[in-house]
Amino acid sequence: MTITVVGAGYVGLVTAAVFSDLGNKVYCVDVDEKKIEDLKKGKVPFFEPSLSEYLERNIKEKRLFFTKSYSDSVSKSQTIFICVGTPSKENGEADLTYLFSAVEETAKNLSGYTLITIKSTIPIGYEDDLEATVKKHAKAKFEFAASPEFLREGTAIEDTLHPDRIVIGTHSKKAEKILLELHAPISGERITCDMRSAQLVKYGSNALLATKVSFANAISILCEKMETDVTKVMEGIGADKRIGNAFLYPGVGYGGSCLPKDVLAFIAQASRFDYDFELLRAVDAINDLQVERFVNKIRRILNAAEDKKNNLYGFEIAILGLAFKPNTDDMRDAPSIKIINRLLNLKANVTAFDPQSMINAKRILPQISYAKDVYRAIEGKHAMIIVTEWPEFSQIDLSKAKKLLKKPNIVDGRNIFDPHKAKVAGFKYIGVGR
Ligand SMILES: NC(=O)c1ccc[n+]([C@@H]2O[C@H](COP(=O)([O-])OP(=O)(O)OC[C@H]3O[C@@H](n4cnc5c(N)ncnc54)[C@H](O)[C@@H]3O)[C@@H](O)[C@H]2O)c1
Repeated sequence: MTITVVGAGYVGLVTAAVFSDLGNKVYCVDVDEKKIEDLKKGKVPFFEPSLSEYLERNIKEKRLFFTKSYSDSVSKSQTIFICVGTPSKENGEADLTYLFSAVEETAKNLSGYTLITIKSTIPIGYEDDLEATVKKHAKAKFEFAASPEFLREGTAIEDTLHPDRIVIGTHSKKAEKILLELHAPISGERITCDMRSAQLVKYGSNALLATKVSFANAISILCEKMETDVTKVMEGIGADKRIGNAFLYPGVGYGGSCLPKDVLAFIAQASRFDYDFELLRAVDAINDLQVERFVNKIRRILNAAEDKKNNLYGFEIAILGLAFKPNTDDMRDAPSIKIINRLLNLKANVTAFDPQSMINAKRILPQISYAKDVYRAIEGKHAMIIVTEWPEFSQIDLSKAKKLLKKPNIVDGRNIFDPHKAKVAGFKYIGVGR
């Protein structure tokens, strides 16, 4: 089948890589000219394990083409996957500017029956507007479908080839058959439904994942007050198969390109349908508070009063981990941004290290220093702060770290160290919920 993927971002590139690798001819269109030129040369714009090998192989085999021209691609395709960004507006609603512009350009170039499948996460209630946009510009027959994306950055190729489920939301058996055939070589349960239900699966899934994180964070607050260990409590709760332990980890709050914006967009959507989603508002509020609670732990370990302004003046702080999670360089809505801005606000001096995201971070946080590795980051600092659980951070040699730090302080936002071992190594240690 010939496919056009619109949007060469995390979702679009992985979709294009996997479908071309499965033998389809795939065009990938983006409005970002530089990105397209780089991609043609095999340069991937972000860090995602094994993606560049997939792209390289399929460009070489002439199954995958990058272009900024809709006319070169859409008119030759039977199926279009729309994978453009749907960021948050100020009021929390999803900004659909890119979506409508992509759909309009697609419509202008349709030729023959084409299935336009929305992979972007978009709120319910825009079906008529999407149909009207295409009808205004297209003479060809078309249908819309929704097949939301569930990949996780860091394991995106694996997730796309072996997903838990593929959700296919259509209005007709014809559209359903096309998408089922296209996904035939991919494993995972098939959930076929109408478009709205498919979209709601996506929002519902992200809302529940965020709820699990905020639940774990709320329990961690209680564990601190009750002097218990949240890791054991969560292990016990998550061992129940009805609950499961995924996403039941407390930390510095959820971040990234999806959960924060999708939670806000879901609250806004619910309100348009006359439902006050109180549960999700609480999830969002707990998440926001987690950053301030974490910064207060840093103040506490440094013996800086938690109620005074500018009271981290003169303190040198090492932040380890900037990306919103390990194995990605994605800084979108990373908790590190809020934590560092708050520390700067309190007049601390911050040096950071992240194995992958420092180029992106320098654009967002130009005011701080960046170190080449963990040990250079912590040298001469008053505290070592873990913000992202990169596997290499749990391998840090604590006796070497103690010699390098000015003060042996660890605030561990991801509970990667054993508190007992840290204390035996001579550190003052504060984790989350233990
Ligand atoms: N990143 C994830 O892990 C993930 C996972 C699941 C779902 N999603 C959802 O998928 C969608 C895309 O997310 P992403 O992270 O890949 O976004 P992204 O920002 O990485 O990529 C979007 C791309 O679309 C391009 N674009 C914008 N307008 C365009 C247009 N009119 N025509 C062609 N290209 C255009 C941009 O230049 C950019 O390259 C969002 O709705 C997101 O919520 C993302």
